[in-house]
Amino acid sequence: MTSLGLTPYFNVTIILRIAMRILSILVGFIVTLQMGFGQSVIKSKHDLSSNNDGVTQWQSTDEKQVCIFCHTPHSPTTTILPLWNKSQPSNTVFSAYSSPTMEGVPNSDLSGSYSLLCLSCHDGSTPMDALLNPSEIGKPHMAGGYTRLGDVYYPGSPFAQFPGANIGEGYGGSAGTNLTNDHPVNIVYDASHPGVMKGKLFDPESKSSGLGGTVTVKMLFENKVECPSCHDPHNPTIVPFLRLSTSNGTLCIACHNK
Ligand code: HEC
Ligand code: HEC
Ligand code: HEC
Ligand code: HEC
Repeated sequence: MTSLGLTPYFNVTIILRIAMRILSILVGFIVTLQMGFGQSVIKSKHDLSSNNDGVTQWQSTDEKQVCIFCHTPHSPTTTILPLWNKSQPSNTVFSAYSSPTMEGVPNSDLSGSYSLLCLSCHDGSTPMDALLNPSEIGKPHMAGGYTRLGDVYYPGSPFAQFPGANIGEGYGGSAGTNLTNDHPVNIVYDASHPGVMKGKLFDPESKSSGLGGTVTVKMLFENKVECPSCHDPHNPTIVPFLRLSTSNGTLCIACHNK
């Protein structure tokens, strides 16, 4: 009698426990999968390969390599790190943001700067398929024949989800060199910056970035604020490719004492 009364109870408990266990394994698996994909340039909006699953419409129809659109293992652009595989914008001088309260002066000639790497696509006009060292297939073909960000992101375009994606504001092949409405880049930021002396900015050499090192080590490039100070071109986890979240001002107060 007792066993008859208990059996269904045990069965239900055991079935529930097994179900919970399977569920937790599944959830763990899915979370790991998402983290694995989320942290990678593969199948992010910076994956321009033919295998990118349509994450971005700037997709090659024949080039399967991912890194090749930006890097090459041999004979890169000599003037620019890191093993860069792309032609640079023809004009390297961009008009920079300025204001009466700015303490430092950004260098508007971006030659050799890490920001010029980004602008070799994000000026809107420099072709994305112009690689120094293409693979064995030769120059990659791009879907729809769109080779420049400005072919799609022009003002009034029906495709323009992010009309500001051309940071340099070039369209349809004409060079855009306007950075006046963008956060200053190519600007030296070290302990001797007048903003640091006045306490407006943290000292980047001692301030923790929250990324496992000081601001200088984790966010600056040759002691300068550049596009990749705020963006990590390989990691789409914090949209849009941000190194730190903008919630609660986290990204901004890594540097600004506000
Ligand atoms: C859309 C352009 C782009 C693509 C695609 C890309 N990278 Fe990068 N990569 C950059 C830029 C820009 C930098 C310099 C800024 C930085 O370090 O964040 C960089 C820096 C690097 C560095 C040196 C700094 C570091 O973070 O270690 C390595 C190594 C690297 N990339 C490897 C790769 C590999 C491997 C791939 C392909 C799986 C790849 N990248 C794909 C743009 C790209
Ligand atoms: C890696 C460090 C760093 C990060 C991160 C950063 N900034 Fe800046 N920011 C600077 C530096 C350096 C300047 C130049 C300040 C100067 O020379 O007076 C600057 C300038 C500015 C200015 C212009 C100040 C003026 O006087 O006109 C504003 C506004 C600003 N930042 C806002 C932001 C916001 C908002 C964020 C977050 C989305 C942010 N910054 C993230 C370093 C940073
Ligand atoms: C090889 C060309 C190329 C280079 C180099 C490149 N990008 Fe991009 N970027 C793209 C394309 C293509 C997109 C996708 C646009 C779309 O689908 O909306 C994109 C999208 C983005 C986005 C928007 C992401 C989103 O989630 O909507 C950001 C932010 C961005 N890039 C920043 C950068 C920065 C910063 C650098 C340099 C460190 C850089 N990019 C270098 C081609 C490039
Ligand atoms: C001070 C930090 C900072 C710097 C420096 C910075 N960005 Fe951004 N960027 C952001 C943030 C934050 C957003 C998201 C804005 C939003 O959500 O409205 C963004 C958005 C973008 C976007 C997508 C939206 C749009 O307007 O098209 C692109 C592309 C982009 N940045 C490229 C660049 C490039 C190229 C540079 C260098 C010339 C650069 N960023 C420098 C913080 C920065």
